[in-house]
Amino acid sequence: MKLSVTLGALAFATAFGTVPVCFGADALGGESVTFNAHIAPIVNQRCASCHRPGQAAPFSLLSYEDVAKRAQLIQAVTQTRYMPPWHAEPGHGAFKDERRMLDAEIELIAKWVDAGTPEGQGSPPEAPEFAAGWILGEPDLVISMEEPFTIPADGRDIYRNFAVRVPTTEDKWIRALEFRPQARTVVHHSLFKADPSGTARELDARDPEPGFRGMGGARIQGLVNLSGWAVGGNARVFPKDAPLRLPAGSDFIFQSHFHPSGKEETEISSVAFYFTDKPATRSRLGIALPPNFGTGAGINIAPGDSEFTIGESFTLPAPVELYGVTPHAHYIGKEFKSWAELPDGEAVPLIWIKDWDFAWQDMYIYEEPVVLPAGATIHARIRYDNSADNPRNPSNPPKRVFWGPGSEDEMGTISFSALAVNSDDESLIRRKLNLLRAKHLNQSRRFRQEMREIRASRER
Ligand code: HEC
Repeated sequence: MKLSVTLGALAFATAFGTVPVCFGADALGGESVTFNAHIAPIVNQRCASCHRPGQAAPFSLLSYEDVAKRAQLIQAVTQTRYMPPWHAEPGHGAFKDERRMLDAEIELIAKWVDAGTPEGQGSPPEAPEFAAGWILGEPDLVISMEEPFTIPADGRDIYRNFAVRVPTTEDKWIRALEFRPQARTVVHHSLFKADPSGTARELDARDPEPGFRGMGGARIQGLVNLSGWAVGGNARVFPKDAPLRLPAGSDFIFQSHFHPSGKEETEISSVAFYFTDKPATRSRLGIALPPNFGTGAGINIAPGDSEFTIGESFTLPAPVELYGVTPHAHYIGKEFKSWAELPDGEAVPLIWIKDWDFAWQDMYIYEEPVVLPAGATIHARIRYDNSADNPRNPSNPPKRVFWGPGSEDEMGTISFSALAVNSDDESLIRRKLNLLRAKHLNQSRRFRQEMREIRASRER
């Protein structure tokens, strides 16, 4: 859906697509800012996707009353850009579904709040309509968690995996996926995997509660990555010639993160599959820098250190197109930066997150794939802040942090979804990626030994 709202001379970028914008605060020409004329359209487009009944945000922002009674807080969270949540810096990659407000919109909200939140004449524009059914239409297959899982009213965040049998007898090609949580207020994100080995199902059966704990992926051989969903996310449509393979007889795994909401909730997640008969002519290449979630990157962060940085680089042996990027770290991850250095020395910015928030594990999809030639080098840097000044540091006072799967351990990677420009080059690129992975596996063995020694010496 493409929707643009025009208010006199003002055209806003909408949540559904970007419309050229040509106004500053001056464009108001002395007219006072009111809810009905100016603020409601902004809130409808920038906030209502999450701030409406049944969605992730803790309250609705649909009516004048909803917004006016939280005016001060709204002014503050928009000015700091805490809301809408969007962590990629502008100018470092152009992404789809960008949830970034224009400076002029933030200014309008501030003016309105400073003017005492006037409602204005007439009535506000209708709230946007959101699709009630599946956004992409009738799916080919829908699967749901086999047992409901209860999220208590409060307590720590929960990470849990759920295996679901997929009733297919042959390999299928997925052209799109759409995730639907039932308890939207508590489901924070979910990563999707296919497990052809049956291991996940065994782990699920062994655990008396529905699902099983831990970052299951590490323990299961041959898992197939099928992307995922995070709060605010839409259906996921894969590049036309690169649908994802769902191996026959696989179990589908939801790897989910729940955040208690203050009220007990019961979750049954569902996913809709859209298949295509046309097998992939190119297949997804995962370029993760550093690879293996940073196991071999030497993550050993002294308490108080706010500059600890890991990084890796990869020179492309053949041209690729990058279509998405997923940064990952835990609580004290702070800054992610990645860029490509072209053979002629030019730098192409790929993503920059200055203030990482563990709660928003977004997958950023490029508006247009970024095409890089052979010989281009992708650089990735991740900085951690283990000081007491980091408000997201789970330890106070800070303590030494090593690589590990727990959320108070650290990991770090910037992971690109890529396609070879020429499918003939795929194996060449994969071989080079495997060498990088092997180097990191070796480093991680050495590093685990060091970690044991450090721990043992501290215990003495
Ligand atoms: C992608 C979903 C999403 C969008 C879009 C979004 N919010 Fe939120 N908002 C949330 C969630 C989830 C929370 C609760 C968790 C949190 O505070 O991070 C929240 C919390 C808030 C809070 C409470 C913060 C606090 O400290 O208590 C305010 C105020 C708020 N949002 C305002 C807005 C406004 C104004 C907009 C639009 C300009 C907006 N949000 C857009 C998801 C969203």
